Amino acid sequence: MLVNMAMTADGKIATANRAVASFGSKRDHDHLLELRATADAVMAGARTVDSAPINLGPGAIKFRRARLNRGLKKFNLRIIVTGSGSLNPDAQVFKHRFSPIVVLTTERASATSRRRLRALADELRICGRRVINFGSALRWLKQKWGVKRLLCEGGGELNDALFQANLVDEIHLTICPKVFGGHAAPSIADGQGAPSLANAQQFEFKSARRIGDEMFLVLRRRLNSK
Ligand SMILES: NC(=O)c1ccc[n+]([C@@H]2O[C@H](COP(=O)([O-])OP(=O)(O)OC[C@H]3O[C@@H](n4cnc5c(N)ncnc54)[C@H](OP(=O)(O)O)[C@@H]3O)[C@@H](O)[C@H]2O)c1
Repeated sequence: MLVNMAMTADGKIATANRAVASFGSKRDHDHLLELRATADAVMAGARTVDSAPINLGPGAIKFRRARLNRGLKKFNLRIIVTGSGSLNPDAQVFKHRFSPIVVLTTERASATSRRRLRALADELRICGRRVINFGSALRWLKQKWGVKRLLCEGGGELNDALFQANLVDEIHLTICPKVFGGHAAPSIADGQGAPSLANAQQFEFKSARRIGDEMFLVLRRRLNSK
């Protein structure tokens, strides 16, 4: 699994008030679409999908062609994670019906939320009691939807759950030369976090490229990490 994020020089992925959700360059946006064009599915958390007019799709025709050339489906599967079922039914993603949308939730979602999400999504899957069990969710996504390569696009809470479950193989990080500051501003990985250095996820740098005013970093999980 890959995680792709843009962050400021102080490690934030949005302003503390969440008003700013997008601050990378056009090059960064193209990088996001290039990565989507390598993945069977793109996944995001409920607050990321709620808070911006994103559709999680492949973008322009050249990216769809690249997908077909790689033997992938023309349009990637889209996956949204909402443990409590709080996902906003008016989110833009539901207004674009070019590829299936799978919603992963837990037993915490009420009957009403489940009904609402079933009506919006192509499939609603209960994957745990209180939090998503991503190990079994990924096994199901592979078996049912043929997802072998999955790109996660945040936010910080979802990413953290994936890091803690030891499921992230590669991180694509764009560092933008801005500082947002703020205790409440989200970062690449929020949630519970690691309790000690020994529990930290271990990565190594694979590449670093400066393009224009941004740094494009790729980190891969150390093979001997947990
Ligand atoms: N700069 C970037 O590259 C970038 C990328 C993406 C997002 N963002 C920004 O990041 C912010 C959103 O990040 P965020 O951390 O607040 O939210 P998020 O990770 O997008 O979504 C959090 C929600 O996802 C569900 N969720 C996440 N992990 C779960 C788990 N293990 N089990 C069950 N449910 C889980 C929960 O939904 P329920 O509440 O329904 O339980 C949770 O409230 C936005 O401001 C967005 O614009 C920036």
